[in-house]
Amino acid sequence: MKPIQVGLLGIGTVGSGTFNVLKRNQEEITRRAGRSIQITMVADLDVERARAAVGEGVQVVNDARAVIANPEIDIVVELIGGYGIAKALVLEAIAAGKHVVTANKALLAVHGTEIFAAAQAKGVMVAFEAAVAGGIPIIKALREGLTANRIQWVAGIINGTTNFILSEMRDKGLDFEVVLKEAQRLGYAEADPTFDIEGVDAAHKATIMSAIAYGIPVQFDKAYVEGITKLGAADIKYAEQLGYRIKLLGITKRVEGGVELRVHPTLVPAKRLIANVEGAMNAVVVQGDAVGTTLYYGKGAGSEPTASAVIADLVDITRLHTADPLNRVPHLAFQPSELSDLPVLPMSEVVTSYYLRLRVADKAGVLAQVTGILAGLGISIDAVLQREADEVAGEGAAQTDLIILTHDTREGTMNDALAQMQALPTVLAPIARIRKEELA
Ligand code: HSE
Repeated sequence: MKPIQVGLLGIGTVGSGTFNVLKRNQEEITRRAGRSIQITMVADLDVERARAAVGEGVQVVNDARAVIANPEIDIVVELIGGYGIAKALVLEAIAAGKHVVTANKALLAVHGTEIFAAAQAKGVMVAFEAAVAGGIPIIKALREGLTANRIQWVAGIINGTTNFILSEMRDKGLDFEVVLKEAQRLGYAEADPTFDIEGVDAAHKATIMSAIAYGIPVQFDKAYVEGITKLGAADIKYAEQLGYRIKLLGITKRVEGGVELRVHPTLVPAKRLIANVEGAMNAVVVQGDAVGTTLYYGKGAGSEPTASAVIADLVDITRLHTADPLNRVPHLAFQPSELSDLPVLPMSEVVTSYYLRLRVADKAGVLAQVTGILAGLGISIDAVLQREADEVAGEGAAQTDLIILTHDTREGTMNDALAQMQALPTVLAPIARIRKEELA
């Protein structure tokens, strides 16, 4: 049978990995796909780099639209990234009747609804395994492997850069800024790491998982996004003393009245497997009503791990290429006409437990004032830890760190408590608040 022909838009790290793995494992992949898959055309602004990556025998151009316009190309692989030109090219490829494979989480989290609708109307597939957690087949697991389940929650370490930074902060007791600089020097963090450290990249991925888990449209604009930039080494240390690790989690839960969708630093019991995922590795825990808890672990980025996901999509499309579009796996796991309008809840409605650290004056009655505020708002305390007071130079006043773990409470109520506690004259610095998840 004639090989399926693939055109790559962009041949950086992932593109060259895709080319190399396809070539190296060609025989095995053909046996699986039932047909040879060949990259026959590559577009990249840096034509020399592209030529060096693919050698002779592949058409190299500097115009992505030439790939889309080529009638021989069956599948367009978009590896440009971002919401800009990538969006136009993906929509043009769909309009030209091409199937699309993309690793672009930002594009799908923000414009997925438009892109999937266009693909549906045209009868082509948009596959995106590489968009979430790199080499971990979490899209496949959520969309197909767990299809019997009513998914209850998904929680993942889905950004390697921030997990690397948090691991280093914990191991070495260093502050965020110091570790970030080291991560950049080692090439673990981008020169502009904003999307990673501010939680945006993780929120893009959590948005996509949420849509697939519950059959709701992608709604990145409704996600709560908080990164790790304000996290102090002291909180990591105190959390450890209480039996917890702090991880940047992407969380989506089905709760009464809607869906939670949030990314923030989270205390996780140190005994959970996910709490022990270190360095740049990714892991996702999925709780389904039938299967219980399942865990997926692996490399969330990198040339060949991400290529592994891109090629899995190429094989899927090759197998389903001739299938009636109605018999293919729906983009968001649920039939497009069956998507639900379950709302994404505002953060003030989210119910979770909390870690609080208050720098307070170390004198009689302070603990009573603080716990009085919590009690007044019906917030139940799980544990209290007070560290030894240290004398503040020049002021002669003793200060201490008061660490409180609470039971579950509504975020809106916790916000009220924080405002009241912060207004106490005996609370001497901004209160650190970190959410806690037992993931039981
Ligand atoms: N920058 C991401 C990370 C990989 O650090 O995990 C691509 O999404």
